[in-house]
Amino acid sequence: MESIFLVTIFLSSIFIATDAYRSNSRTIQCSRGGPEIQSPFWVKFRQPHSCNASGFELICRENATTIRFPSYGDLVVKSILYNTRKLDLIDPKSCVHEVFLNLNLSLTPFHYYYSVKNYTYLNCSAPLSNSFTEIPCLSGRSFHVYTVESSLPVPGSCKKIKTVAIPFSYSPYISDNTFGLGLTWDLPGRERFTSKGHHHILSIDRGHGEAVLSIGIVIVALVALVSITIYRSRELQKLKREQKLEAHKLLADS
Ligand SMILES: *[C@@H]1O[C@H](CO)[C@@H](O)[C@H](O)[C@H]1NC(C)=O
Ligand SMILES: *[C@@H]1O[C@H](CO)[C@@H](O)[C@H](O)[C@H]1NC(C)=O
Ligand SMILES: *[C@@H]1O[C@H](CO)[C@@H](O)[C@H](O)[C@H]1NC(C)=O
Ligand SMILES: *[C@@H]1O[C@H](CO)[C@@H](O)[C@H](O)[C@H]1NC(C)=O
Ligand SMILES: *[C@@H]1O[C@H](CO)[C@@H](O)[C@H](O)[C@H]1NC(C)=O
Repeated sequence: MESIFLVTIFLSSIFIATDAYRSNSRTIQCSRGGPEIQSPFWVKFRQPHSCNASGFELICRENATTIRFPSYGDLVVKSILYNTRKLDLIDPKSCVHEVFLNLNLSLTPFHYYYSVKNYTYLNCSAPLSNSFTEIPCLSGRSFHVYTVESSLPVPGSCKKIKTVAIPFSYSPYISDNTFGLGLTWDLPGRERFTSKGHHHILSIDRGHGEAVLSIGIVIVALVALVSITIYRSRELQKLKREQKLEAHKLLADS
């Protein structure tokens, strides 16, 4: 009897929790199989402008999910991991080090997911020794571009382009066009949403509501469990008392 009650409570709490979760994460996608887009990201032209969280605006272009950086241009969003706050990007031009060289994240909510180190980009009129590998996608016939430790003195044949804090120096072994383009974001503060952003605040609050609801369900389940346990032990005591009484009666009768 009690076990059926317990199972019912458990099943309904699971049902309510998943339902609450589903209705809260109304995700949209640019294409089937594309990354799921939910707060703090939003899609231009598809979602109301009330969620105007600067920096988190995505654009569906053909089947691709893209994000625009004023300092670089458009990058393709490969995946968004909301629990670890990781945004994986792909450079459509397949030149990650061109992205590293130009991408300036300072006015965006993003920074590199991996820890960064200062590297200097060099533009050399002659190739450096074999211990340096030029970046093919940035080099030409008459010039050779390298990433070197920023402490290295600039060789005579080279001009320093820029020193930038990036996650990786160039390596021919990790030259695929996704490696290193992992970003993470700071949680948007409420102030980002205050102008015209009431709908968005509501959707953030719903996240809170969901947590409160889940906690509520757990508390109800716990209370039910405790009451059942108390009820059971009382019933047991009652049964014992009755048995004792009966035993006494039997003794008295005999
Ligand atoms: C979004 O916010 C930015 C910066 O606060 C503002 O310049 C822009 O006009 C806003 N766009 C819309 C559609 O509200
Ligand atoms: C987008 O996806 C559809 C269906 O999967 C496909 O037919 C179409 O060629 C794709 N378009 C582009 C530009 O990739
Ligand atoms: C990035 O942009 C900020 C603000 O515009 C600027 O102060 C900073 O020097 C830039 N950083 C690089 C590495 O260009
Ligand atoms: C890179 O160099 C700049 C300027 O010297 C410095 O402010 C910054 O802290 C350095 N960044 C790293 C990650 O070492
Ligand atoms: C390197 O220098 C050459 C000419 O000296 C120039 O055409 C090229 O754009 C430079 N590359 C970079 C990445 O600055």
